[in-house]
Amino acid sequence: MEATGAKPQGCVIWFGQPEARERSGLAEAGWHVRVAGLDAGAGVREGGNVVALADLRQCDDRALQAMQQLMAEHPALPWIALTAFGTQARHPQVKRILQGCRDFFTAPLDLPRLLAALARARTVPPRAAEATAELPELVGCSAALATVAANLRKYAPIDLPVLITGETGVGKEVAARVLHRLSTRAMQPFVAINCGALPLNLVQSELFGHERGAFTDATARRIGHIESAAGGTILLDEIGDLPLDAQTNLLRFLQEGVLQRVGSSRPIEVDVRVMAATHLDLEHAVAAGRFREDLYYRLNVLRLQVPPLRERGDDVALLAQHYLARFRERQACAASGFDDAALRAMRQYAWPGNVRELRNRVQRAAVLAEAALISAADLALPVAATTHGESSVASLGVSRASAEREVIATCLHECRFNISECARRLRISRVTVYRLCKKHRLELQELRAHGAVQA
Ligand SMILES: Nc1ncnc2c1ncn2[C@@H]1O[C@H](COP(=O)(O)OP(=O)(O)O)[C@@H](O)[C@H]1O
Ligand SMILES: [Mg+2]
Repeated sequence: MEATGAKPQGCVIWFGQPEARERSGLAEAGWHVRVAGLDAGAGVREGGNVVALADLRQCDDRALQAMQQLMAEHPALPWIALTAFGTQARHPQVKRILQGCRDFFTAPLDLPRLLAALARARTVPPRAAEATAELPELVGCSAALATVAANLRKYAPIDLPVLITGETGVGKEVAARVLHRLSTRAMQPFVAINCGALPLNLVQSELFGHERGAFTDATARRIGHIESAAGGTILLDEIGDLPLDAQTNLLRFLQEGVLQRVGSSRPIEVDVRVMAATHLDLEHAVAAGRFREDLYYRLNVLRLQVPPLRERGDDVALLAQHYLARFRERQACAASGFDDAALRAMRQYAWPGNVRELRNRVQRAAVLAEAALISAADLALPVAATTHGESSVASLGVSRASAEREVIATCLHECRFNISECARRLRISRVTVYRLCKKHRLELQELRAHGAVQA
């Protein structure tokens, strides 16, 4: 790594107003400061020595929105926050941004500390292969999934509620199980309940339990789901479906750590880590009065956003192979892979049902397929047209530069930097491998020497 000084360190995208002293301090240390919305500059390259700085000392809604957009578009981009007394940390947008940041600074800014944080942020981009290593539950090597994995590791040891959001089928429950497994509660129970599936009149009794005689059918005392998770973790799935009266009791439980069984006035102390998952926009539900704002803040302490499958690049192909392999372990099956058109079709499909839908389609195709390779028709997906121009790369199904770099880097690593082998695996020419290495600044000699690929 370069030493500090004149050598270029990278670029800081500054959302807000850097003071002259801050700007010059960074420049002296070799950081180029680009003020978002003012200074022109090239697009953002993740892992390309770019760090974003959320200057929340004075910022308006437009700046907040721009930050959120950049966060969404480049989930692997490292962020640092700069706050001041009076920063509205309760403002949902501000809060979301703070949650996406790795380091926090308060004004007046301590420049040497900021420089150290910048160097750290730049040198530890979430590395896909590393981030998901030892998380066998999570199949995938995309930057988006690496961010999820990195957050899972960060959140697991912290005994606070986690709010997991994302479309249906993205793996919210999988994420909750990983959080539990990586936590100190791993040896204790993990209980997942779907709040939307509880009969309305029984929600309270299901969650908190009831005493004998509490209502007509209560012929015996019953322990609720929360109590049954004592010492461990409870996942309240589809939390947006929780009726308001149950929300009130849940809030009390989160605040005081005690619950009351229905039909009893005795408070019972229960030690359970609460995780909640939802595919709904809870902020919207709060605004509409369907979800208690105070409960929302209690749950939304650590926020885990699981991205949709269509934003996970080549994870689609990996997951498809994974599910096909699992299927083949149990059943005789003619197919052992996917043809090119099927891979393209999977990459271009929007996957509204995400991983769950992909699993179902692959299983169905595995049953139907008569050839060695599953076709787009077997998957019941429309055949996607081949893109012209960069056809070799298009055949990889790689659309975004970051995903492209990751595919090349990972493959090179797996092939021990044997270019011919890498070309063969990716079905591109050797010349293209060299060209892509150059494009993504993957220094082959250096990589071979270190035997590692920096993501
Ligand atoms: N990254 C992943 N790797 C492997 N399987 C996954 C992954 N994400 C989700 N799944 C699988 O997809 C299905 C849906 O996941 P689930 O956690 O129930 O989604 P959600 O709770 O978001 O609706 C499950 O069968 C789960 O095992
Ligand atoms: Mg679920």
